[in-house]
Amino acid sequence: MLKFKYIVTSALPYVNNVPHLGTIVGCVLPADVYSRYLKLKGEECVYVCGTDEYGTPIAVQAEKEGISPKELCDKYYEIHKKVYEGFNIKFDVFSRTSSPEHTELTQYFYNKLKKKGHIYKKKVKQLYCPNCKRFLPDRYVIGTCPYCGYEKARGDQCESCGKVLEPSQLLDARCNICSNKPVLKETEHSFFRLSAFQRQLKEWIDKNKHWPANARSFALSWIREGLIDRSITRDLEWGVPCPDDPSKVIYVWFDAPIGYITFSKQIGKEDWWKDKKNRIVHFIGKDNIPFHAIIFPAMNMGVGEYILPYQIASAEYLNYEGGKFSKSEGRGVFGDDALKLFPADYWRYVLMSMYPENRDVDFTWEEFQRKVNTELNDAFGNFVYRVISFVLRFHGRELEKPEQFSEKDRQIVNKVKESCAKINKLYESIKLKEALQEIIALARLGNQYLNAEEPWKNKDRAQSVMFISLNIVKTIAILIEPFLPETSAKIKKALNIEDIAWHKAAELLEFGKVEAIEPLFRKVDDKEVIEYRQRFRSKVEGVRILDTVSYDDFKKMKLKVAEIVSVEDVAGADKLYKLSIDIGGEKRTLVAGLKGDYDKEELLGKKIIVLTNLEAKKIRGIESQGMLLAAEKGDKVSLLTVDRNIDNGADVL
Ligand code: 2FM
Ligand code: ZN
Repeated sequence: MLKFKYIVTSALPYVNNVPHLGTIVGCVLPADVYSRYLKLKGEECVYVCGTDEYGTPIAVQAEKEGISPKELCDKYYEIHKKVYEGFNIKFDVFSRTSSPEHTELTQYFYNKLKKKGHIYKKKVKQLYCPNCKRFLPDRYVIGTCPYCGYEKARGDQCESCGKVLEPSQLLDARCNICSNKPVLKETEHSFFRLSAFQRQLKEWIDKNKHWPANARSFALSWIREGLIDRSITRDLEWGVPCPDDPSKVIYVWFDAPIGYITFSKQIGKEDWWKDKKNRIVHFIGKDNIPFHAIIFPAMNMGVGEYILPYQIASAEYLNYEGGKFSKSEGRGVFGDDALKLFPADYWRYVLMSMYPENRDVDFTWEEFQRKVNTELNDAFGNFVYRVISFVLRFHGRELEKPEQFSEKDRQIVNKVKESCAKINKLYESIKLKEALQEIIALARLGNQYLNAEEPWKNKDRAQSVMFISLNIVKTIAILIEPFLPETSAKIKKALNIEDIAWHKAAELLEFGKVEAIEPLFRKVDDKEVIEYRQRFRSKVEGVRILDTVSYDDFKKMKLKVAEIVSVEDVAGADKLYKLSIDIGGEKRTLVAGLKGDYDKEELLGKKIIVLTNLEAKKIRGIESQGMLLAAEKGDKVSLLTVDRNIDNGADVL
């Protein structure tokens, strides 16, 4: 039989900050859940990660903190490691790109690509800061994105539209250290001949129909635009030394993904990367798509020794209470604080059930409370506690298999079996959020069954109902382990099934001795929600979320009724529509992230509410002249509209 091995990777975090909830749910945690699942199922799998220590993100931060890049990396490597341990992330290796093995392998890639003609030298004009007296690579420059107009775009990539940039493309460029205007100066760099892989990449990506939509469409639109050669050296001291130019280091995005191979090699698994049957599964955030879907695969096509990824699980962003996480503004929950508030399994649950698979998701404390109270505590925790306590109270420590089952019992056993098969499929296809929902649905099913059968009243039904309920508890304990390892271990211990195999989830088993269990979770009360929201909100004056606004503030917003008169796709954007709207005779264009939530036909003719005096913003090169209003919760979206017919342009007060 064709037996393959899995190499699961999580994007290597930069060590310039403390990881926040968004970093954790973006890739480290889902990769952990998925690799735990594979291992429990009996697959051969390693989970590879480590810190991404080179490049301008680190150098710029070290300069800001007034320490050397090495000191910065040593400090934050330990912080990252500790936070991930606290979240029970089970890496097989968590290494560092500053290790000597990594320098060796990166230089090997460089030399081999050069030898095969895929790397060449070219003179270029590059931004140079006359004040700091140096060339400004990547994040040493900030300015306005030429594609979307975002004003704080970095020299390597625009965070707003995701485009990969060269510093010289930025409009109104400024030095990120001293804010002075840089000038162009000639220098020589090494270039990777990415353009040569255009056809080969396209054929390969075309075949990867199982990739998530965002990874596929981003990669294909990049290819459609035409791949250009990329400079892969930088004027920095901190990095892998360039083998044929000691004055330069290798670009961090050239060396970082090679880290996956270096780290695998450090645990004796390099050969796993050389066997075509094996599967590499990358977990990344959406801003990393170009590097994992295009550049790193092209490097591997060029080197010709290592396999290409099988799957690229690319997440959208998790935001915090309507904005971005920001350590410098003290906005959001960071790993170390999170674990002081609640044990890891609370976070693992809430974060995975908010996993931003198809669209950005907003973390709010109300949603945290709702998920913990109604899903984790009421549906899951209470069911387990109820069943085990009832068995102990009325049946003693051992519950024998009943001689016969009723029709209802058989129905429920079948439903559990079907649900197990569905959950396995969801895990298999990396639909982790849905797998978790389905497991909680199983607990709800168990609760409904108990309530309907009332074993506490119905003595002659009690044994079979409790036997089946206890088996549902076992099923859940097995299937939820990748998500909630500590909770699963507690339940398994109470059932005396610590070593039970994954495939026994759907079987009806007779248990040995059952032990008492403490309630698994506690509820989060309203006072806590208010306190945490206050504690973790931005401490920076001016961007603070205001609790109250005056009527005068509200009056400044010109809200109007508008009718959608046309809907078009936006090239290369899988979430955006370009809408033409009529605001009582005045026509305007809006760019709105509704694709995937609304079909074009549903939108045409709809009367919506638009904020008309918001400053215009360029999105994907199209000027959006206002903002439509919509309600949003989790991944659900609903447009605000009027409930009676009223003329376009009517004021909304
Ligand atoms: O975006 C980031 O945080 C990068 N450090 C991810 C690197 S992933 C890999 F290629 F190393
Ligand atoms: Zn400067």
